[in-house]
Amino acid sequence: MTTLVKKAPLKFAYWVPNVSGGLVISDIEQRTSWDFDYNRKLAQLAEHAGFEYALTQIRFTAGYGADNQHESVSFSQGLLGATQKLKVIAALLPGPWNPTLAAKQIATISHLTAGRIAVNIVSGWFRGEFKAIGEPWLDHEERYLRSEEFIRCLRGIWQEDAFSFNGDFYRYRDYVMKPKPLQPLPEIFQGGSSRAARDMAARVSDWYFTNGNDLEGIRQQVLDIQQKAVDNDHKVRIGVNGFVIARETEEQAQQVLHEIIAKANPQAVGGFASEVKNAGSASPEGEGNWAKSGFEDLVQYNDGFKTNLIGTPQQIAERIVALKQVGVDLLLLGFLHFQEEVEYFGREVLPRVRELERQEQAHD
Ligand SMILES: Cc1cc2nc3c(=O)[nH]c(=O)nc-3n(C[C@H](O)[C@H](O)[C@H](O)COP(=O)(O)O)c2cc1C
Repeated sequence: MTTLVKKAPLKFAYWVPNVSGGLVISDIEQRTSWDFDYNRKLAQLAEHAGFEYALTQIRFTAGYGADNQHESVSFSQGLLGATQKLKVIAALLPGPWNPTLAAKQIATISHLTAGRIAVNIVSGWFRGEFKAIGEPWLDHEERYLRSEEFIRCLRGIWQEDAFSFNGDFYRYRDYVMKPKPLQPLPEIFQGGSSRAARDMAARVSDWYFTNGNDLEGIRQQVLDIQQKAVDNDHKVRIGVNGFVIARETEEQAQQVLHEIIAKANPQAVGGFASEVKNAGSASPEGEGNWAKSGFEDLVQYNDGFKTNLIGTPQQIAERIVALKQVGVDLLLLGFLHFQEEVEYFGREVLPRVRELERQEQAHD
């Protein structure tokens, strides 16, 4: 079987900690804060360290270690105002957002920030959240049908002079929205892993974000999506989540991982485990995000330990480049102590990745 080798330099994104409790459901010390002051400095450090993107999260209610949650679009705008080059990807949840509001909001932010805003369309996994805010809870397939219509409408409103659409969820008749966002249009990311998520990516998304996984699991997803994208005459790029624990020695890094898991909050992880059954395992094929995640995987919200970016800077750089070799375009990274570790990653890991990429090019 062929693999899809990508030659462009890998891109890097970090998870914005705009939700409290960090990126692991554990009582281990986390020198990370969800407030704006911390995040402003983090964004500045990250763009200096070589990160091209930051991803904000959307959650509407507390749950599983996340008591406070800043809203994604307004938080993204704040970070864009504090940075020069960084692109910030704002999460949008169809349901609470409709395409009209989203298209308008993002077009304005594009003008305010020299076009550095992007969006991540998320389809929903947290049923309790929908219940709390009185949003109807659709089944898995319908959530993706709605997300796909959402993406088609967003792009249509942005691209067309007068947009018309007759869908199951959204309708437009000669809708004229001005100003349009700056060109190139904001990039449209999407999160998921299930059959429905992959098929949507192969039809409409610019980028597909998926949970952490081992190399073989990622390779299979990439092949699956890219073959379908070719059939659909569509171009999509792939981003993978990974939780980085980079330390001087492998033993030190593994020790941190063990401590995170040993101090995991079993009740919160258990609650999360039961809630995420609404995601991938609720899809007809029973795959997708968290469908095969054990207790230890779920301590990191998006299976980031599975990607195994845990070790010395050299080991991590090699594993990142191996992901590139199976067709990954972007690494979405989480850390325990964000500010200090983003800086360390930029200093110790990124130059090694670039050196390996150079060696690879030289051999071709
Ligand atoms: C990288 C990434 C980021 C995500 N961010 C959010 C988010 O901010 N808010 C949210 O409700 N869901 C988020 N999700 C959840 C997805 O949109 C989707 O609902 C979930 O992954 C289930 O997908 P599946 O059923 O296709 O496996 C994210 C998923 C991924 C992979």
